[in-house]
Amino acid sequence: MIKIAPSILSADFCDLARDIQRVSSADWLHVDVMDGMFVPNLTIGVPVVQSIRRHTEMFLDVHLMIEKPGRYVEAFARAGADLLTVHLEADMPPALHAALAEMDRLGVKKGIALRPITAAEAVIPYLREDGVDLILVMTVEPGFGGQSFMADQLPKIRAVRRYIQQYRPECRLEVDGGVNAETARQVVEAGADVLVAGSAVYGAPDPAAAIAALRG
Ligand code: DX5
Ligand code: ZN
Repeated sequence: MIKIAPSILSADFCDLARDIQRVSSADWLHVDVMDGMFVPNLTIGVPVVQSIRRHTEMFLDVHLMIEKPGRYVEAFARAGADLLTVHLEADMPPALHAALAEMDRLGVKKGIALRPITAAEAVIPYLREDGVDLILVMTVEPGFGGQSFMADQLPKIRAVRRYIQQYRPECRLEVDGGVNAETARQVVEAGADVLVAGSAVYGAPDPAAAIAALRG
């Protein structure tokens, strides 16, 4: 079953409550946290996640695009995140393994994300040793919404799907960046089962219709 995760990065932050309501037919809410270091942009932090949590019961999929994300795992977990995803490039492996173990202790689901440059093989230890719940393959350079889908990531999505089937079939495979009704079909065919979409949902005249179109 495919899950659709609208990214509030493309919402109107002055009217976030309304814009969350607009995507209530989706499955998850994707929250992009950026620190101006790991990516050249700043977005939202812990207090905003806390406010969103009070406002909605949707599953909060929090994508941490921050250096040394272990520093903030506890704060985002306590703020109400359901799933925290950390980037493989954001710290050394021992620190990432520790961050994932902390997510377990705090009772949140745990994911790892790959920038376009990072090879599929990098996910293997995290599937085997950490039992991650989700792998996020970026199909744009992280940092901004509204970029074009990188079709050269499709073979990587297929490879990650093979590793998931081999080592941890219950793990979800999420794709983020340039996903619209057309590219959604390609990533689902390649093995994705969670689709993040910012501009394709919030840039559409009818977000609910856009969500339905993404489901295919
Ligand atoms: C980009 C973010 C994405 C972004 C996707 O770094 O991780 O979640 O919101 O936006 P679109 O769907 O417009 O590419
Ligand atoms: Zn994201």
